[in-house]
Amino acid sequence: MPLDRYNRDINYLRISLTDACNLRCVYCMPEQMTFRPRDELLSDAELRRLITLFAATGFRKIRFTGGEPTLRPALVDLVAHATRTSGIDSVGLTTNGVLLAGLAAPLYAAGLRSVNLSLDTLDADKFRQITRWGNLPDVLAGLNAAARAGLRIKLNAVVSRGTNDHDDVIALARFTVAQPWQVRFIEQMPFGNNAEFQKKSIVDEDELLAVLTKEFGPLELENGGKLDGEARLYRIPGAAGHIGFISPVSKPFCADCNRLRLTADGILRLCLLRDNEADLRPLLRGGASDDEITAFIRKAVHVKPWGHGLADQVMSVSRGMSEIGG
Ligand code: 5AD
Ligand code: SF4
Repeated sequence: MPLDRYNRDINYLRISLTDACNLRCVYCMPEQMTFRPRDELLSDAELRRLITLFAATGFRKIRFTGGEPTLRPALVDLVAHATRTSGIDSVGLTTNGVLLAGLAAPLYAAGLRSVNLSLDTLDADKFRQITRWGNLPDVLAGLNAAARAGLRIKLNAVVSRGTNDHDDVIALARFTVAQPWQVRFIEQMPFGNNAEFQKKSIVDEDELLAVLTKEFGPLELENGGKLDGEARLYRIPGAAGHIGFISPVSKPFCADCNRLRLTADGILRLCLLRDNEADLRPLLRGGASDDEITAFIRKAVHVKPWGHGLADQVMSVSRGMSEIGG
């Protein structure tokens, strides 16, 4: 079991498969965005090797993210590799859903059992405004295909003040009445490239809970308030699914952090919101042995920082969300 120096069991690796995206969400990246050249990204073979070595080091859970991971041609093969890797008991995918309609069934066949789909509103005009390029029906087709394929579904909504902080939140939450899904509201986090926007538009958990309570009546707290992953879960009385709040800014969960992140260019990020990094690519491309790489992973786990420093205005400035994968 890989323990860090604060005794946290670090067993969850989030792998960004590309920094590129087919949307341009206003809180995430500018419309004119430059992405990394292909040869800077880890190859499929390098990723397969790392997945095996992380599992050998004691990692149990893998999530593929981006940018937008469905843009990676080998996504289905990489999912199949991860689900077959001994020691890995959970494989997830976080996607904007634009390309999911054609991929849900092949991903299920590759062993994927759950998907996290980003969806901030059910209003097509607003969806276009938030994502700049997005077409809501594509995403809803992806969502339906995922449900039909048998994937467990979590919807992630980032809430921005003045854009989707009221009616949209209610409409998304209403999904849970009939569907066994988790609909999670994520507090916007600041990065070097969006800090001004974030300050103006963050909406915290307490405010959203008040909006939902007014609409649906008191929500039932699940698990005595113990987090499910990073989400605090509630249920509308009698509902099939759950409403969750992910509140890294107003209610940090760093004490229970169990993850590292691997960027598409092979850098281990030790905290989403700090610039502490450990670069695996020189080892991979410099002929390092499996033992050398697992020793490097253990050392990175050991020096993982205690928690984010948002309260002291410390944030990630070297990379934005789309380069780290959330
Ligand atoms: N804060 C919180 N969530 C964000 N996402 C993108 N940028 C931010 C941010 N600044 C979300 C996306 C998607 C997931 C990958 O991260 O909406 O749900
Ligand atoms: Fe793409 Fe996700 Fe960023 Fe939107 S939030 S631009 S979908 S990476």
